[in-house]
Amino acid sequence: MVAGSIRPVRSIPGQMRAVVLDAPGPPEALVIRQLPIPTPDGDEVLIRVKAFGLNRSELHTRLGLAEGVVFPRVLGIEATGFVAECPGGAFRTGQKVVAMMGGMGRLFDGGYAEYTSVPTSQVVPFESKLDWATLGAVPEMLQTAYGSLTVGLDAQPGQTILIRGGTSSVGMATAVLAKRRDMTVFSTTRNPDKAGALQQIGVDHVVIDDGEVAAAVRTIVPEGVDAALELIGTPTLPDTLAATRVHGVVCFTGMLSNEWTVKDFYPIDYLPRGVRLTAYGGDAADLPPGTLQQFLDAVAAGDATVPIHRRYTMNEIAQAHADMEAGIASGKLVVTT
Ligand SMILES: NC(=O)c1ccc[n+]([C@@H]2O[C@H](COP(=O)([O-])OP(=O)(O)OC[C@H]3O[C@@H](n4cnc5c(N)ncnc54)[C@H](OP(=O)(O)O)[C@@H]3O)[C@@H](O)[C@H]2O)c1
Repeated sequence: MVAGSIRPVRSIPGQMRAVVLDAPGPPEALVIRQLPIPTPDGDEVLIRVKAFGLNRSELHTRLGLAEGVVFPRVLGIEATGFVAECPGGAFRTGQKVVAMMGGMGRLFDGGYAEYTSVPTSQVVPFESKLDWATLGAVPEMLQTAYGSLTVGLDAQPGQTILIRGGTSSVGMATAVLAKRRDMTVFSTTRNPDKAGALQQIGVDHVVIDDGEVAAAVRTIVPEGVDAALELIGTPTLPDTLAATRVHGVVCFTGMLSNEWTVKDFYPIDYLPRGVRLTAYGGDAADLPPGTLQQFLDAVAAGDATVPIHRRYTMNEIAQAHADMEAGIASGKLVVTT
């Protein structure tokens, strides 16, 4: 356990347990507190949260790198559970739902709690008998992977794809979806010990990332890959572009290095001839209910995997954040309430 970790707090009627951040700080700055259960207005849904995934975005907020966050704040850009109240009638009480983005955990209190009240537009319904921890790992990870593959890359069956930052939860979810589209997947990691975790989800070629992978990729596909997903950021982007074929597409979705700007961008010098660069930043609207349902059904049938590294209880939130910050995971960290 992380030193100074949290003592269990029991819920009392009308109140909920929530993880609150009073100001940026170390993992121990996340404290469990009793707060009133929020009251949803006409355009909101009150969700009884059963599980939530951890995201880099929340790490940025905790480290004080996120702009526009007012403290104290209940973090959490996603949540999974069931509808406790929906005054507008868009969803029925008891319906299973996921919610994500739209300012959750940044502009208003988010998913690190027993209840969260979010705009109806951020809610996606589903039906599934999978356990809550598995379900809780899915929304943001699937939405980002699916949006990157479709909106960002327009990836097609049979194509090759390079996933730069392959052991991240988004990277692993993208690999799972890409394999379901009969793509050939190259995934990078800096850590050879994580190769097995990538092979287990179906990655065809694990590439050890020492900062330059284009040459290694081109020994297997000399013309370069058809598609590449950049999750490390601008330090590796030129090399990812160099691994991609003429008329291939690179989508910039993540910045695990915490570096996301290109200084003095001169396109003719920066971009290899004919290689296309796009970007993806997602929202709940990019995850159609049918896509979520199909994925969950495939998981239930054993035809798809949810790449989960570890499950935690809410009392272990400081440990979970310390693990995210240390980058030890291969896949999603998920917390049950
Ligand atoms: N655009 C969007 O809509 C959107 C939505 C969600 C997430 N994202 C972004 O997508 C990225 C992935 O998010 P995630 O939650 O899936 O991450 P994650 O699971 O926390 O990723 C962990 C992995 O990142 C790698 N890593 C950590 N620090 C690194 C560094 N400095 N340089 C290179 N690799 C590093 C490590 O891999 P190895 O040790 O194996 O190398 C580690 O296993 C993040 O940048 C996140 O902000 C974007």
